[in-house]
This record gives sequence, C-alpha cells and structure tokens, in this order.
Amino acid sequence: MHTDRIRHPGLQDRITSAEQAALLVRNGMTVGMSGFTRAGDCKSVPAAIASRAEREPLSMTLITGASLGHDTDKLLAQANALARRMPFQVDTTLRRKINEGGVAFIDQHLSETAELLRAGHIGPVDIAIIEAAAITESGAIVPTMSVGNSASFVQQARQVIVELNLSVPAGIEGLHDIYVPADRPGREPIPLTAVDQRIGTPYIEVDPARIAAIVVTQEPDSPSNALPPDEETNAIANHINTFLRAEVAAGRLGSSLLPLQAGIGTIANAVLHGFADSDFERLAMYSEVLQDSAIELLDQGKLAFASASSITVSRPVYEKILANIEHYRERIVLRPQEISNAPELVRRLGIIAINTALEFDIYGNVNSTHVGGTHMMNGIGGSGDFARNAHLAIFVSKSIAKNGDISSVVPMVSHVDHTEHDVDVLVTECGLADLRGLAPRERARAIIRHCVHPAYRDALEDYFERACRRGGQTPHLLEEAFSWHQRFGETGSMLPRAESRARKAA
Ligand code: COA
Repeated sequence: MHTDRIRHPGLQDRITSAEQAALLVRNGMTVGMSGFTRAGDCKSVPAAIASRAEREPLSMTLITGASLGHDTDKLLAQANALARRMPFQVDTTLRRKINEGGVAFIDQHLSETAELLRAGHIGPVDIAIIEAAAITESGAIVPTMSVGNSASFVQQARQVIVELNLSVPAGIEGLHDIYVPADRPGREPIPLTAVDQRIGTPYIEVDPARIAAIVVTQEPDSPSNALPPDEETNAIANHINTFLRAEVAAGRLGSSLLPLQAGIGTIANAVLHGFADSDFERLAMYSEVLQDSAIELLDQGKLAFASASSITVSRPVYEKILANIEHYRERIVLRPQEISNAPELVRRLGIIAINTALEFDIYGNVNSTHVGGTHMMNGIGGSGDFARNAHLAIFVSKSIAKNGDISSVVPMVSHVDHTEHDVDVLVTECGLADLRGLAPRERARAIIRHCVHPAYRDALEDYFERACRRGGQTPHLLEEAFSWHQRFGETGSMLPRAESRARKAA
C-alpha cells in the first residue's frame, strides 16, 4: 500500500528502517525536523536517534517548527542528544535541562528561524527529517498536519529523511500551500492579500537525489493537552466579546471582525471557544495553530476559513478531521510558519492577535516565557510575530496563579517579551484594560482598576501612588520593583507574610 504513496518510481528502493535512517545523523550535526506544536512531527527516526545516543556520543543542534509530540524532546534530552535546541519547546524534562544550563536553548520568534537559516546566521541544516503523507511523481513531499519550517529545512539540507505516515489519509494532499520567500536583495512582497488565498504549491519541492531514506510509519499525532474552559477562562472570553462588540458598534470593525490569531495552550483555546456564543459571523483565522476551538467554530459555521501552520487537536477532533479531510481541505490551509506568522502579512491583513501572558506589569509590559524572570517555560513562540504587527494585540492571563500565591499583574515584569509599545489590550477574569492611546500613568490606572485580583489590588495601587510621588514618565520604585518576586522566592507567596500565613491557616 505504501508504494501508492511514493509516486516517484526511483524512490521506492529508499525505504529502510528507522534505525538505518538514524545512522545518517552524526555527532555534531544540525538537524531540521518537521513538527509544530505536536502536529506533523516524525514518529520513529527521532526515537531511533535517542536510542543510539544512549549508547554512543551523539549530540546535535535540533531545529524544528515548534514543540514536538511523542515525548521526542524528552527522549532526546534524557539521552543527552541535544546540544542546542530552537526555536520552541514545551517538554518538562527538556525544560529542566535548559534551566540547568545543560541544553543551549535559543528562544526565537517563530517567523524568524527560516530567515536566519537563509541568511546563514544559524545552520546550515545537515539533515532534514520530515513527516509526509505522500511523495509525488517529481519526488516532492506532501506534508501532514503541520508545515512549520519543513520547506526551508528541505531546501537547505544535504540529505532528507522522509517519514511516510500511512495513518494520514492521502486526501490531505491539497491542504498545504508552500511559498518560500526568495533571498535578498531583490525579494518581492509576499503576494497574499486574503486569508484563503493560495500563493504556492501543495507540496515541498526537493531534488529526489537528496532523499536518502524513507521510513514508513503508522502512528497518529500526539493529542493536544489543552484543558477545557473553566469559570475564569469563560470570564476572559466574555470580556473580549464585549470589547469586540463595542468595536463593531463604534464602527471600527465589521461583524466579521478582522482575521483572528489565537495562541497556544489552555487559555487561548478557551478564549476562542467563547466566540461560539458571540454575534459575530463569517469569522476568519490567520493563526499559527488551530486548536479544538477553531475546528468547533468551523463546524458551527461561525468561522468561514482558517489559515495556520499546524492543526493541534484532541484525539476525537483529530479523527474527525482525518475522516473528513476533503471537507476540511476546502476550509483550512496550512502554510510555512514564516508565512503564517509573517510580520508583513500580519500588518497587511490586520490581525486581531490573542496571546497568553505569564505575567504583565502596571505599564503593560508582558512576560510570556520566564518564570520568576529566570526559568524558561516554553518560549515566545509566535506571540511576538503577531503582537508587534497586529491590528489589535490582546494579551490574556488569569489574574492569579498557584492558588493565589502569584499575582499575574506585578509592579515590573521580571522578563520582557512584549513591551508596552506592542500591547493594546490586557484581559484577566477580573476585567479588560483598553490601553490604546493611553500614557503610562493612565495605563497603570486602567490595569490596576480592571485586571488585578482583589487580593493584590491595594498593594499594587499603593506601589503605584508612591512611585508617582517620586515622578517620572513611567514611575517606579526600583528598590521595590521586584520585591513581589523576591517575596515569592523567600516565602512561597507574593502576598504579604501576615496575609499569606492567615490564608494558609484558614
Ligand atoms: N508565574 C509562574 N507560573 C505561572 C504564572 C506566573 N506568573 N502564570 C501561570 N503560571 C503557570 C500556571 O500555574 C501553569 O502551571 P502548571 O502547568 O504547573 O499548572 C502554567 O504556568 C501554564 O499556565 P496556564 O494558566 O495553564 O496557561 P496556558 O496553558 O494557557 O499557558 C503560557 C500559558 C504563557 C505558558 C503559554 O501560553 C505560552 O507558553 N505562551 C508563550 C508562547 C505563545 O504565546 N505562543 C503564541 C503564539 S501560538
């Protein structure tokens, strides 16, 4: 059956085992792998590389689209197979190694990795390992549930290993739109002016002579691990819906809004879920990931079209998509991440970007990546690509974390991913602060009034008022700016000692 999927007659004899293919990877190489937020990653060759690395020195620079499924990052990290890793990850074991200093992690804007490779700032990629649903007559690769950076890896790699996944229906061919910008100087504008437009080819072109091995697999993608909506995320979604309704009423947006982007994780998924009960119609998405909520909106007809770089969904939704791939192929397009996240297109299309903050401060600076200012969580992902260039850059967060011992709104963020200049709207379950056109002191008042949990509001108000008495465009008490983080480190809570003790006793 797999011979139907390898339509280039000269490539049939490249089929081999994962173990044989893994032997092509040598110590010190740079490897580019398909996979974006668990979707379309390789299932068997990475595991074979990890098992080799258990027995012999084999350490590589691994570049992917984004995070991988199937515990690949965990297996590779445990086997000490990762010297350097970019541009994004979500794995607990790898995160620990990164934070211990054992793996050099380069946290990158997701639109930028391909550009950096093309410019020679990183790389070159020695071997590309790419999951495919088919190989065409000309030897081109038909991707599966993500595109990520695969086209750029294939363009650059000396050798390509293809993992042909037979569990993905052949009908997925046509879902993808592969467009790779030309080298500079002389690059043309990306010719995309509408979310549903196709500007490239439905496959990744490659010289078949560089396909060194084909490994046949059958495994589905790892399911998404986003949690279902809860009271707080529903409240956040309601605040955003109310805000967008007011934008429509004010004539700044139409009833279809502008194309939506929603970030990864539980909160972003839940927020998008909230659009199901909204009055908006014929919505469109121009995002990097489609989670369950996007597919629900498509099924309801609320969403007319979705463009992204990957589909990362729960098992039932995954099975539904694959069983009805011809239906979804008309409503979804998957693009390389340098196109799904292209600053040029985000600005041109006027994206409404909704991403999640770990914490933000009273002036609107956002930390999406570093716990306590030092420890990497996942990475910036595409949030910067979208936020800086969006029509509306919205950041959401629950107002507290860790049972109230952490306030997500702090005097000064302990690490900055998105500066006050990039952030238009901040939302927690407590309320929404519209920061557009506000000066720093006005922003602080709006954020404290609308976004801070009641347990922390007075303390933040007090900090701000005392800072204002000292003066400045952006007033601060530098000696106290990180005192909340410090207190958390020392006592396990950002709450003042007495309050924290009383709460624990109760
Ligand atoms: N300090 C420490 N930990 C915090 C925190 C803070 N200020 N705020 C949240 N957390 C913890 C939560 O307690 C939770 O911990 P747990 O996993 O032990 O339960 C964890 O962070 C995740 O938070 P959660 O509230 O479940 O949100 P999420 O799943 O939506 O993830 C981010 C939130 C910020 C980690 C995630 O969205 C992310 O990595 N964003 C950066 C990349 C990005 O935005 N990409 C978007 C383009 S697609």
